[in-house]
This record gives sequence, structure tokens and C-alpha cells, in this order.
Amino acid sequence: MMYKVAVIGYRAQGSIHHAPAFARVPDCRIVAICDVVEDRAKEGAEKYGATAYMDVDKLLEQEEFDIANIPVGEKYRHELVMKCLRRGKHIFTEKPLAAEDGQFAIKLSDVPVAREMVDEWQKHEGLQFGICFGLHASANVVRAKEVIAGGELGDFAGMHVITQHNSWNHIIDLVRYFGGEVTGVAAYADDQDEMSAKTATLKFENGGLATLASYKRLALQFQIKWIGTKGEIIVNNIAGDAYWYLHDSLETRVYDETRTVKRCSYKAIFEGLIAEFVSSIREGSDFVADGWAGLRHMEIDAAITESIRTGQFATVNRYRPEMGRRPIG
Ligand SMILES: NC(=O)c1ccc[n+]([C@@H]2O[C@H](COP(=O)([O-])OP(=O)(O)OC[C@H]3O[C@@H](n4cnc5c(N)ncnc54)[C@H](O)[C@@H]3O)[C@@H](O)[C@H]2O)c1
Repeated sequence: MMYKVAVIGYRAQGSIHHAPAFARVPDCRIVAICDVVEDRAKEGAEKYGATAYMDVDKLLEQEEFDIANIPVGEKYRHELVMKCLRRGKHIFTEKPLAAEDGQFAIKLSDVPVAREMVDEWQKHEGLQFGICFGLHASANVVRAKEVIAGGELGDFAGMHVITQHNSWNHIIDLVRYFGGEVTGVAAYADDQDEMSAKTATLKFENGGLATLASYKRLALQFQIKWIGTKGEIIVNNIAGDAYWYLHDSLETRVYDETRTVKRCSYKAIFEGLIAEFVSSIREGSDFVADGWAGLRHMEIDAAITESIRTGQFATVNRYRPEMGRRPIG
């Protein structure tokens, strides 16, 4: 089957990353580019031999398509996602699902906005709702997950994470991916408006603790140290490396795909994640960064902001807690 894709929003993320990545998937064809800015819609339509639309309602009335790719900023997301879900389209959109005050200050009142999208998605059996948490396609992250799942490092005991602030949303999602569901947080920021530098302690359902710190500038984009009962694994950077060792051994195992296995780049992780998303539609399988991952990110991030604002420990309230569970480790 050939999947017809409509790209809704053709600015930075749409034109540079999402549209080229969908165009590379062999069983996808971009049939429409929609942007309220006419020049952008026309530019994309010309590039992909597609039809230009300036109005999403018109697009939904006039064009037949399967996948709505919605790479827009958070202030436009809810309306577009809801309209496309109601018409039975698979959705691939950006993160965060909602953020009235911007992606670095997600607050409790943003969570119901995200929940509404997830509720609508759940009404349509067989539809995929994908979020562009691209790090899931970074080869070092994939390898680290395999090593942890293999059990040689033991059970999850905790995590130590640093990140440059612009990867904050992604890192919260990854912390949950590596550590399991988060039940509460205690967090601090010096500048409560900008919140570019913040620290948080996360408490996990399975008993582990994580410390998480974001900095305005960092040479590495991020570093995650996952600590197990038998050993540790360190994951460095987007498209970077990973290395691991047992607590009682000096022997370090290294995975560095950028030099030794295959080329990996920032651009390639969009291609990888989008190919995986289309494959989940084709196979009817779970997608690693689905609407539940998007919502769980919002719930944790909102609790962190709440803790910063109140100076108190904040509980993470999970909507339908049985959903979106991923095997630990
Ligand atoms: N996954 C990643 O690694 C990553 C990296 C950078 C940014 N992002 C995310 O991407 C998003 C921003 O992307 P951007 O800068 O390309 O988005 P943007 O919001 O600046 O641009 C979106 C485009 O959508 C168009 N648009 C808005 N409303 C529309 C509507 N109703 N119908 C049709 N078109 C409409 C705008 O005209 C614009 O051209 C943010 O959410 C950000 O968090 C993610």
C-alpha cells in the first residue's frame, strides 16, 4: 500500500526535517502541503509535486490522504491534530503536545489540552499518533536500551542526567523510557521565568531515583548515566556513543556507531523515527514515541514546573496509569 501524506506546517521543522524524511520512505508519497503562508505552501508543493493548500479545512474536504504530518509549534498543534484525528488520519506531530508558556515552562493547565488529543486518538482504533521524540532513533539510545534489556547491568537503581536546556522535553521522555514511570518530583530553578537552568529529582514507580539538570550551554547535548544493580551505562549526545561496565570490573564496553558501525546524524534520526512510524502503521504495531509517551512527558514536565513554583515535592498524576507502560530496562 502507498500511504498518502499531507504536510501541515511548512516552516523550519516541516521543510528541513519532516517532509524530506517522509519523502524518503518508499511507501509514502507527499500529496499535499498546507501552510497559512501561501509562499511556504507553494514552495513545498512544487518541491514534492503536491497540491498547495492554505486552509486545513479545505485540505480535509478536498484531498484524500492517510497521514497528517503536523510539524508546527505548540500553539497551533491542538486545533490541527484534533481536526485531523476526527477525520481518521494517522498523526505525526512535534513535541510538546501543549505549552501555553512555551516548551521550557510546561504547566499543569497544559496537561488537559494534551489529554484531549489522546482521548480523541483513543476513539479511533487502528490510528497511530506519533510524536517526534527523535532520540528514539539515535543509534546509541537504541543500543543502550538493548544492553539494559539484556539484563547484564541488573535492575534499575537510578539515573544521573545532564542536558543542554533545548533538549529538555526529549530528555524527560528518555528518562521515562530508560527508568519507567515517574511518580513524583522535587525541582528547583534560579530564574523561574526563563527556566533554562533547572534541576530535578525524580522518583520512579519501581523505586529508583534520578537527578536531572539542565544548563543553558553545554559542550555535549546530553549525557545519561543509567545505574543498575550490577553495572552502569553512559549514553552521550545525539547520534553519539554509549559505554558500559559492571560495578566490579574495569573492563569498559564501547559502542560508537559514528566511527565504527554506521553513519548517524541529527538529520538521520528524523528519517529513522519517521520510517519506524510508517512501519508501525503498516504492521499495526506499537510506536515507541506514541501519544501516551507525549502525554506522560507533559505530566512529568508539568509536575517539575509546579515543584519549582511552589518549592514543594509534586506528585505526577498519570491519566489512565495502565496505558503507555513500557517494560523497565
Ligand atoms: N523534534 C525535534 O528535535 C525538534 C527540534 C526543533 C523544534 N522542534 C519543535 O518543532 C516545533 C516548531 O517547529 P517550527 O519552528 O517549524 O514551527 P512553527 O510553529 O514556527 O511553524 C509552523 C508552520 O505552520 C504554519 N501554520 C500555523 N498554523 C497553521 C494552520 N492552522 N494551518 C496551516 N499551517 C499553519 C505556520 O505558518 C508555519 O509556517 C516546536 O513545537 C518545537 O518544539 C522539535
